[in-house]
Amino acid sequence: MAGRNNNNPFDQDNYTHNIDRNNERSLDRRGFMKTLVGAAGVFAVASLPWGTLAAKELMGLSDKEYPHKKIVDVKNLPVGESLEFHFPSEHDSAVLIRLEENKYVAYQNACTHLRCPVYWVKEEREMVCPCHHGKFDVQTGAPTAGPPRRPLPEVIVEVKDEAVYAVRVKRYEA
Ligand code: FES
Repeated sequence: MAGRNNNNPFDQDNYTHNIDRNNERSLDRRGFMKTLVGAAGVFAVASLPWGTLAAKELMGLSDKEYPHKKIVDVKNLPVGESLEFHFPSEHDSAVLIRLEENKYVAYQNACTHLRCPVYWVKEEREMVCPCHHGKFDVQTGAPTAGPPRRPLPEVIVEVKDEAVYAVRVKRYEA
């Protein structure tokens, strides 16, 4: 072609010719500064005592307090027995177990494998998921057998005026 120097790889038809390298560098600097300022902000917020709580809350990792809900009168739940209830919403199925005279534990009982309902088996003193033979430690909610890998979310309970109340849900970091 006339007028073209075919030995020069950077001629006018090369698609990199229109990049303004100085402009590109200043954009890079601006982007880097923004990232730096953002990271400093997150660090500043997370390093304050309330900031840690706020950051955890934003990430959904803090324990969450709900309006207290009465589950049962103490006299109506013998030692060793369990009772199903819902907390915090009517869609969140949970189970309360009276382990000893003054010891109660409660967990949301949707299996952490595929959400089948988990039951308390008194004779075996274990929480069992019938779907794929999953089992959970009643003291901690941790999985002990089968496919589940995450613990059951614990519902913190309190005894007040001879009744058991659900007060909050303990969350676990992934
Ligand atoms: S759903 Fe519970 S073990 Fe699979």
